[in-house]
Amino acid sequence: MKIFIDTANLDMIREINSWGVLDGVTTNPSLIAKEGTTTPARVREIAAIVDGPISAEAMSMDAESMIREGRELAAIHPSINVKLPMCVDALKATKVLSSEGIDVNMTLIFSPNQALLAAKAGARYVSPFVGRLDDIGSYGCDMLAQTVDVVRDYGFETEVIAASIRGPVHVMEAAAAGCHIATIPYDVLKQMVSHPKTDEGIKKFIADYEKSKR
Ligand code: G3P
Repeated sequence: MKIFIDTANLDMIREINSWGVLDGVTTNPSLIAKEGTTTPARVREIAAIVDGPISAEAMSMDAESMIREGRELAAIHPSINVKLPMCVDALKATKVLSSEGIDVNMTLIFSPNQALLAAKAGARYVSPFVGRLDDIGSYGCDMLAQTVDVVRDYGFETEVIAASIRGPVHVMEAAAAGCHIATIPYDVLKQMVSHPKTDEGIKKFIADYEKSKR
């Protein structure tokens, strides 16, 4: 499973990139606003750091404007794909953009049916939101697994990005479901590294090594 980071913070991106595990980056308007910048400016900066796909969200709400904005975002750097929010206009825009070789990441996916439509329209990526479904008392991970099945069973080239990841268990579920990609917040990536038994083991090895030197 490829690992993307879900942030627009450059320090976090640099740090995870230095671990040697980073395959790409996703941003969204909320993450960009948190950094006090704009999407075009920030994705340009990210592209200078990371060698991999970067999602930049278009804010237009009708197909024609989505296509125009999508072309502008994609022109910033070859690594950039255009994030569109699932709706009829986004399907229409996806058809056009994908036929021009511009990758679309259809976001705000909450059902396998939405993913199926996005894949048929030519989306390169679909982003099912796991945590936000959990938030309303549904099983986000079940929806994620069904989405992967639909995309794989029908041989779409579309890749499933597990999004709205809230903890390490979501990452494990995404990997178990066979997701192509998980886009993971910085804090969750850090949690994935740690295990109390690892810390305990390191302490013991160091203590035994110190004793053996005496
Ligand atoms: O990038 C979209 C997604 O990952 C958002 O996550 O935690 O705001 O639901 P969250």
